[in-house]
Amino acid sequence: MVPTSQQQAFDFACTSPTEFWASAARAIDWIREPSSIHDANDPLRPNWFSGGELNTCFNAIDRHVNDGRGDDTALIFVSAMTGTESSLTFAELQTKVAKVAGALVNSGIAEGDRVIIYMPMIVEAVIAMLACARIGAVHSVVFGGFAPAELSKRIRDAAPRLLLTASCGLEPGRVVEYLPLVEAALEGHAQTDAVVLQRPGYERILPAGWSTWSEWLANAPLAPCVALQASDPLYILYTSGTTGTPKGVVRDNGGHAVALRWSMQHVFDAKPGDVFWAASDIGWVVGHSYIVYGPLLTGCATVIYEGKPVGTPDASQFWRIIERHSVTTLFTAPTAIRAIRRDDPAGEGIAANSLASLRTLFLAGERTDPNTLNWIRDQLQRPVIDNWWQTELGWPALAVCQGLTSPTARVGSAGFPVPGFDVRVIDTKHRPCTSGQTGDVVIRLPLPPGATSRLWGQPDGFVAAYCADHPGFYNTGDTGEFSDDGSISIMGRNDDLINVAGHRLSTGAMEEVVAAVDGVAECAVIAVRDMLKGEVPVAVVVPSNGQRAMAREIPVAVVRAVRNEVGPVAALKRVVIVERLPKTRSGKVLRKTLRALANGDSIDVPATIDDPSVIDAVAAALH
Ligand code: COA
Ligand code: AMP
Repeated sequence: MVPTSQQQAFDFACTSPTEFWASAARAIDWIREPSSIHDANDPLRPNWFSGGELNTCFNAIDRHVNDGRGDDTALIFVSAMTGTESSLTFAELQTKVAKVAGALVNSGIAEGDRVIIYMPMIVEAVIAMLACARIGAVHSVVFGGFAPAELSKRIRDAAPRLLLTASCGLEPGRVVEYLPLVEAALEGHAQTDAVVLQRPGYERILPAGWSTWSEWLANAPLAPCVALQASDPLYILYTSGTTGTPKGVVRDNGGHAVALRWSMQHVFDAKPGDVFWAASDIGWVVGHSYIVYGPLLTGCATVIYEGKPVGTPDASQFWRIIERHSVTTLFTAPTAIRAIRRDDPAGEGIAANSLASLRTLFLAGERTDPNTLNWIRDQLQRPVIDNWWQTELGWPALAVCQGLTSPTARVGSAGFPVPGFDVRVIDTKHRPCTSGQTGDVVIRLPLPPGATSRLWGQPDGFVAAYCADHPGFYNTGDTGEFSDDGSISIMGRNDDLINVAGHRLSTGAMEEVVAAVDGVAECAVIAVRDMLKGEVPVAVVVPSNGQRAMAREIPVAVVRAVRNEVGPVAALKRVVIVERLPKTRSGKVLRKTLRALANGDSIDVPATIDDPSVIDAVAAALH
């Protein structure tokens, strides 16, 4: 039976996962067919497609060339920052990727070696990822908006042999000089070599021992695709956890390729030859899955965009690109739509461009508020699909699947469970919540192909971090509720993660930095609602004794420290000085209460509070 509705496919994947995923695996070109689809006896480590051998880069590029699609467009690069555009066919991409893969081999990079990619949104960054995949090296892309200390943490954990970077990134109004950042981050990591792509017009003098991209490529042969086990790691992507130490999510080759190919067809309704544009960044999971691997595995052309939704040059930029390149699918974060609406409330840019090619807009990264959803749906007169997932899962777990028949989801919900993800909402005692009751959003184990089951360098880390709270379930860390129609609304996090403009960051990591600032005795960093970015961090600080006179300087120092230590993307701009923080009698800071105070929500002061009078004083400071 081939299921045609989301519900049928969901039921099939639940009851017969082996048949369901064996069928999905046929869309991938295997060097050796898997000997088993999954290990049904180990829900924590299902070991998808064991015994199978494949190469992800082959499936993303060479396979299409072999199928006679070498002259079709594979990459479309649009840089609003330099005013340039270019494109590559699958055949051209194959040659460029094979060359970079050859340079990696020349540098001594072997299967399983880690390569860090710290680059802006340029074609070479995508080529570098695919080149690693070609030879079985494990890439770890680090988002350009992170500071050296964050890059350094990732270098320490991944222990890369090589770091690929560029002379600079380009942000509106400023050039991000990468070399001083990378030099600082590489301090103490002598085993890591660095290669720098000199951006035209922004060439820089390199530190001793580093190579330029062109020198590095000069004598490189074209490297072929190697055969990899389905379970071999394709990449590590670090994501914020509740502490200052990021978690290295490991993605395997086999499950990832099968899941992404399935999701492109069934969740996104994408076909070979479509032009797929995920307006995100390759530093995030959306970029990995739907700028690079998903579209290319499907034989779509993918758009790589360097720029912002607004201000580069204006709020019509997205619609112009859609018209010019006949984009069929747009995927972005709700914050981008809020920014466009703020600058062009009447949607003049939408009306001024022909969007005839565009079929669907997908939104993810944070909750799409109903107001924004209704506005963009009215403007585009096309389906606008919220979809919910996270770095660990790798592809959407809640959505309204566009390649299957599905009911319309309630506005404000993130859709229905996607086949493979048995999403439930349960209370702290592991009992199912009733419709409308908020609880923990969990997923019944095993997770489907493509979702991680391990953290880099921590053999038991995955189980400890995600599977300990609710036996038999993966805990997403989000809270949500079911509706009568079966859709699920995501309400927020139940830990210290914050979502700033669709970027997942850790308030814990920011607190560590704030606490180290001179004159800070105690602090809490909390998430406060923001009209544009969804949430922004606010630091609530108690100056140390004798430092109260410095109360004016502390905010400046705190903002600077978070920018320098975490990165500008944290967007911590507000610091509130208070005499005391609200705490329980055992000394625990009441962050939830602080958050409610800052957001103007009704507060439930816990009975365990040490001194209730602190609440009024903090409330006054926050307003
Ligand atoms: N390298 C270096 N710095 C970066 C960076 C990068 N790759 N990306 C962002 N930054 C910096 C910005 O320059 C900015 O610095 P500033 O404080 O000096 O202005 C800061 O980080 C915050 O950037 P950003 O989050 O882009 O906010 P913004 O105020 O410049 O723009 C939006 C607001 C809404 C337009 C922007 O956040 C946006 O496009 N969001 C879409 C998010 C997205 O695609 N998320 C992916 C998840 S699907
Ligand atoms: P990341 O791992 O960076 O992709 O961030 C994942 C987190 O972002 C999720 O756990 C959610 O908290 C939030 N998130 C992502 N997509 C959505 C969505 N569609 N609706 C609500 N929250 C979302």
